[in-house]
Amino acid sequence: MLTIDHLSASYKTMDKDVLTLNDLNLKIHDNEIFGIAGESGCGKTTLLKTIYDITEYPLQIDSGKVMLTGEKNGKEFHYETGNIRKTWWENITYVPQAAQSVLNPIVRIKRQFLDSIPKEQRGNETEEEVLNRVKKYLEELQLSPDILEAYPFQLSGGMRQRVIIALATFMSPGVVLADEPTTALDVVVQKGILMLLMRLQRQFQNTIVLVSHDMGVHYQVTDRMGIMYSGSFAEIGRTGDIFRDPIHPYTKMLVDSLPRVGDKSQKAGIPGRPPALKNPPPGCRFAPRCPKATDLCRQEVPELVEVEKGRYAACHHNEREVE
Ligand SMILES: Nc1ncnc2c1ncn2[C@@H]1O[C@H](COP(=O)(O)OP(=O)(O)OP(=O)(O)O)[C@@H](O)[C@H]1O
Ligand SMILES: [Mg+2]
Repeated sequence: MLTIDHLSASYKTMDKDVLTLNDLNLKIHDNEIFGIAGESGCGKTTLLKTIYDITEYPLQIDSGKVMLTGEKNGKEFHYETGNIRKTWWENITYVPQAAQSVLNPIVRIKRQFLDSIPKEQRGNETEEEVLNRVKKYLEELQLSPDILEAYPFQLSGGMRQRVIIALATFMSPGVVLADEPTTALDVVVQKGILMLLMRLQRQFQNTIVLVSHDMGVHYQVTDRMGIMYSGSFAEIGRTGDIFRDPIHPYTKMLVDSLPRVGDKSQKAGIPGRPPALKNPPPGCRFAPRCPKATDLCRQEVPELVEVEKGRYAACHHNEREVE
């Protein structure tokens, strides 16, 4: 299980700290695909980086922590912010945004697999034995072992992304963090990558944290999701419930902006822009764009509360409305 406990983080800049994650709390369960959605700049990548413990200057955790607990090969483990990197690849892995550059363009894929395994975990296995395991793994993911002989530049963008996902998950980590894994790809290839992630999850029963600004992606693959707005969660819940019946006005706008089958109307998009994180407005950060905003919203920050079982929203108007 992945527990995010009162996590706040900021970027140190010359004149001011930019508070980018604002007291986040979240439990991501074993065996689920958890989605994180929200507009560009709301802090999705920053959240994944802090979970993965790559908080290099100017990013800094101001308070709180992330805990990664579970059991592997009959042994319990517990890692938290500060030592999570000790268990990279083994229990948690990260596919960064614009991951294509992760692959070395002049090294064959098989060498990149071999080099990705820490020596202490290879034991007495020969390279050939490791490669046989890699081949079996690729077959399980329905990828051709032939790609092992290729150089990255010989593969299409979609295939490179599949290789990166296979590489990141080869050591069967319980948690896979994937940042916009489909964004740069066309729709058909996107679908293939999403299928791969779902297959992976079903086969290995791991947890996938999937970041995407694309609500359509979340609708297709995630079990639960969190909607981020300006460094906080606006809403958390089961994906089906969020789409069927969004609580937060921001979620409602995101859901309404999705085109539906047969609907030819022009989508309005969300008026206004997200607030600058440097000088956020007081009160609810969504208030300047919110059709329901009242004086209370402009003055007081709404807390994220459990509105229904397993359903959280940070909105002063969270009483369920009967329409
Ligand atoms: N190195 C940095 N120094 C200062 N501010 C930064 C830095 N990196 C990111 N930020 C700020 O932190 C905020 C969150 O950035 P982040 O990359 O986490 O957003 P995101 O939700 O992943 O966006 P996108 O959808 O575009 O990938 C942004 O407002 C950004 O300007
Ligand atoms: Mg990002």
